[in-house]
Amino acid sequence: MSSATENMFNRHEDVASRVRSLMDQMTLAEKIGQMCQLEATHGYAPDYLGERLRAGQVGSVINIVDVDAVNELQRIATEESRLGIPLLVGRDVIHGFKTVFPIPLGQAATWNPDLVEEGARVAALEAATTGVNWTFAPMVDISRDPRWGRIAESFGECVLLTSELGAAMVRGFQGEALDDNGSIAACAKHFAGYGAVESGRDYATTNIPDTKLRNVYFKPFKACIDAGVSTLMTSFSDLNGIPATGNSYILTDVLRGEWGFDGFVVSDWDSVRQLQVHGLTENDSESAYEAATAGVDMEMAGDAYSNHLAEHVESGRVDLAAIDAAVARILTIKFELGLFEASQTDPGSLPDIASKRALDAARTAATQSAVLLKNDHDILPLQRAALNSIAVIGPLADARYEQLGTWIFDGDEELSVTPWHAIRDFVGDDVELQYVRAMENSRSRANDEFHRAVEAASKSDAVLLFLGEESILSGEAHSRADIGLPGDQVELVRRVRAAGRPVIAVILAGRPLTLSDIVDEVDAILYAWHPGAMGGPAIADLLFGVESPSGKLPATFPRMVGQIPIYYSQKNGGKPPTQENVVHIDDIDAFAPQTSFGMSAFHLDTCFTPLFPFGHGLSYTTFEYHNIRASHEEIRLGDVVTVSVDLANSGQVEAEEVVQLYTRDLVASLTRPVKELKGFRRVRLQPGATETISFDLHTDDLAFFGRDGQRTVEPGLFHAWIGGSSDAAQRTEFRIIAPDSVTGVNA
Ligand code: BGC
Repeated sequence: MSSATENMFNRHEDVASRVRSLMDQMTLAEKIGQMCQLEATHGYAPDYLGERLRAGQVGSVINIVDVDAVNELQRIATEESRLGIPLLVGRDVIHGFKTVFPIPLGQAATWNPDLVEEGARVAALEAATTGVNWTFAPMVDISRDPRWGRIAESFGECVLLTSELGAAMVRGFQGEALDDNGSIAACAKHFAGYGAVESGRDYATTNIPDTKLRNVYFKPFKACIDAGVSTLMTSFSDLNGIPATGNSYILTDVLRGEWGFDGFVVSDWDSVRQLQVHGLTENDSESAYEAATAGVDMEMAGDAYSNHLAEHVESGRVDLAAIDAAVARILTIKFELGLFEASQTDPGSLPDIASKRALDAARTAATQSAVLLKNDHDILPLQRAALNSIAVIGPLADARYEQLGTWIFDGDEELSVTPWHAIRDFVGDDVELQYVRAMENSRSRANDEFHRAVEAASKSDAVLLFLGEESILSGEAHSRADIGLPGDQVELVRRVRAAGRPVIAVILAGRPLTLSDIVDEVDAILYAWHPGAMGGPAIADLLFGVESPSGKLPATFPRMVGQIPIYYSQKNGGKPPTQENVVHIDDIDAFAPQTSFGMSAFHLDTCFTPLFPFGHGLSYTTFEYHNIRASHEEIRLGDVVTVSVDLANSGQVEAEEVVQLYTRDLVASLTRPVKELKGFRRVRLQPGATETISFDLHTDDLAFFGRDGQRTVEPGLFHAWIGGSSDAAQRTEFRIIAPDSVTGVNA
């Protein structure tokens, strides 16, 4: 055993014995107290929570960020309660704290785990100055429905991307060790399946077959657990008839039994009591029983546990051992955080808020998150020297708060630099600028200012249109049925377009929007998500070519809502559409007799392809992929195949490309998706340079959960693609053969 491992081992042993000796002294009421989290938002919390803290009835508080009040709560808990157990102080630190980073979906568009880790680290350091020691992030719900407002909080639709970025965020929050000054406990949420709510309506029902849970929805949680996440949160949603908060299959059988997770599980806000609203239980007492026996260790912001758990233990219906296990898990995290040694916070011991490190990371994240969706005739980057005048138009060009996005309770709007300010700074006196907001906000239907926008556009050499959604239109309980540009924005685009100048749309939004109405009306689209505080400078750098865009879509962009769900890893089906076997409604003769068209899986009134595929994102240079090859035609189970490609920067500027590896398992006992992302890498290349990019694929990377729920790798033929999007054209293949055969079972 290395000395590092030995230290770690001793630490765990030490924590376990400290937990045991503390629990030996605890009454049932004190144990249940640890399982209760109380809200601390109304007035001065020490005043109204003090008594319950002294009585040992509180394990955690949520939503308090006044460091003096937090210190006082900790003082009461540690000095005035019988056993002196410190508190977990929870807060939603989702994409930055004071310094706001791009929304998680935007961070996912960076495809850069190091950057996501750094963002979480910076957020942890800032949050820790207030005494917060536990965040409710990352959200790793696979999100394949852009109507769902919470897609903004997610890393998008892909299992691998979400898993890698979720793990990176956990590492960032938790740091090298939980008891380092500035580390906070993370929480992977919402277990499980929340992203699959019907029609993207928040909190709605989900129906997910077990094989899909295992192959898709569970995987990012497992990745976070492997990265050491301390806690998991349950989902509000109903999962196959059993709400997640009362679902012992996922919370106990899978999480504890199969994965051996030894952190603790917290409910979502009041979701224990909501078991009754779901129709699973008759009252709070039964809800407490169901949640506790399913495996929820702590109740968030409710009182079902505090009011009712004891009666179930006393009646023998709930085993004391189950309570002990939950409490031990909670106390373990408290010990690991070092709270028993130091629960008071000294903000001066931590870096300053909005430090250079924080602002730089937020700017880099915003820069790498922006996705260049289209760029006709290389209209971008703008050449400052060649332009006399630019019109900056739109409701989101100068909207400090809106660019921050959802979940920014603590975000400092004063730190926001808007695109309008950044562009002004960038061009200085060299270029004449005109700014017309044109709409009060993104939803506005008043168009009486549009003529000013048109006037400004006609007097300019180029038009920058800042469109999209205000932050209030995405996030929790902010789902939309129509995900087009809200208000009269499409009309604004049309009118401005008619002025005949080049039009560049910069879109700030919390989700993929349907852009079919404007895609042909503009010359370029830069999709900036809600980019956070440093969105302005990042966007200015990209528009003027200081940086080349390098973001890639973490979610498919549908042409219209009716295509949803549309995602890259769909199944082939028995009648897949091709360009040859589809028909468009406009091509059907009048009074056509009943007939079937092409007999394939498509809609008559749109293409079967999305507007922009997963992984898409242009650059100011051109990247060419050549010569894809697999190191072996055949590999045996347990072996590695290396898939390589030559990547050339054949354009004029140095730039970064996100190289993506996809595979398809052609024949399996459970049908497999047409493509699955298996690897990705950000590569920086000088113009004219070529680099060979290789990915090692172990046969385990090709495993899936089969009909029986068991993980398996089936021999047979695999296709592999490497490219700059999920539409990658360069393809090779290899075959996995059974250890004792030369042909393989699917040969
Ligand atoms: C959300 C959680 C969040 C919690 C605490 C709930 O409504 O679903 O994601 O962590 O509130 O704010």
